[in-house]
Amino acid sequence: MDKIISLAKRRGFIYPGSEIYGGLQNTWDFGPLGAEMKVNIRMEWWKKFVREREDMVPVESALIMNNKVWEASGHLANFTDPLSECEKCHHRFKTDQLEKDECPDCGGNLMGSKQFNMMLKTHLGATEDKSNEVYFRPETAQGMFVNFGNVIDSSRMKLPFGIAQIGKSFRNEITPGNYIFRTREFEQMEIEYFIPVPQNDAVWQGYFELWRTEMKNWITHLGIDADEIYELEVTKDELAHYSKRTIDFEYKFPFGQKELYGLAYRTDFDLKNHNLKYRDTESGEEYYPHVIEPTFGVERTLLAAMCSAYTEESAPTSEDGGEDMRVVMRLPAWLAPVKVAILPLSKKQELSEPAKKLASDLRKEFTVVYDETQSIGKRYRRQDEIGTPYCVTLDFDSLNDGKVTVRDRDTMVQERISMDSVGEYLRDKLL
Ligand code: GAP
Repeated sequence: MDKIISLAKRRGFIYPGSEIYGGLQNTWDFGPLGAEMKVNIRMEWWKKFVREREDMVPVESALIMNNKVWEASGHLANFTDPLSECEKCHHRFKTDQLEKDECPDCGGNLMGSKQFNMMLKTHLGATEDKSNEVYFRPETAQGMFVNFGNVIDSSRMKLPFGIAQIGKSFRNEITPGNYIFRTREFEQMEIEYFIPVPQNDAVWQGYFELWRTEMKNWITHLGIDADEIYELEVTKDELAHYSKRTIDFEYKFPFGQKELYGLAYRTDFDLKNHNLKYRDTESGEEYYPHVIEPTFGVERTLLAAMCSAYTEESAPTSEDGGEDMRVVMRLPAWLAPVKVAILPLSKKQELSEPAKKLASDLRKEFTVVYDETQSIGKRYRRQDEIGTPYCVTLDFDSLNDGKVTVRDRDTMVQERISMDSVGEYLRDKLL
């Protein structure tokens, strides 16, 4: 984990939040490469789960919603953790994680356990009193439920169909940590998949299995092997207040096996509480649809993909035929923050000019870096470390034969192809 954190900082994936002012605990900023990766994750998810499906429509709802939403959804009453507070230092601890009946920080007496709501509070408007207290959403899900009627009326969708959303959620987590794994501000990609009232268990279980397969396929698409994932059947007493069945997809992170994604059967809990019915246009029947909910965290996706892709291996050096250790991020090409690096062998204008022109042409379709500093061996290693699938090198022969060398990140095999065909070559490999 330390190696990944240090690489992520050094190369511009992830920085500590507010760093120049001493940081702000458990907040993180995404640098040039991290920001590119997050866009890739969102875009790929959107393409697979929204655009390619005829049974899915997206929404983008407000982060702050009417308090009545949280009353109806059960979050005001149930989205809580039991906490114990120290009489002396007033630090709070999760009751179920305490080993002794005393404060782990100062040894003081603990007051009785109290329920602590995890929603992040703020005030709308100039005054700060109870009347204008509001919450940042703890899940994107409710924005999809409350717009169920609007979507039906405006889009003519018929059951079964889903509403999808990508956006930030906020939770006043008591124990944030493990790098970007658990933070108070994070991003979710969620689907609420609405189905008719199931006549028996087999019906909702059928939809549940379909989404389970979709989620597994997505995980594979991230470059994560099946043996790195554990599907945990959440026990009855651990289920969220809205769920009848949940499977957590746990990833074997370097700091332990922990939840990556979740799949829940929310029954008609939400639509019933918001009193939003569906009218079957053929039978005229009105009822509360049931819901299967696949949910994905963006930051956990990024972290799991990076952990899975990070590889150290012994590899031949370009210069002297010896071997050294190379770090290579074997990310799937669609997820890599940079798709191609253009590397002229010399900084001389006769090479840099056509190399810059090639980079600028390719930039219309791909994320490209141009790098002319240091030895070619070092430049290759720099690209391996951030997962760039292809490097294109121009040398003095290129000026005569119009050809360039394309190097593959994983096999390190080099091919000589015509400069004019680089775009087509990459399109073929990457799109
Ligand atoms: N709407 C259902 C829901 O919110 P959840 O299991 O509480 O379910 C869904 O959260 C996903 O959001 C998790 O599987 C995880 O990927 C991500 N997530 C939840 N809390 C998080 C946190 N504090 N930091 C980062 N990601 C988080």
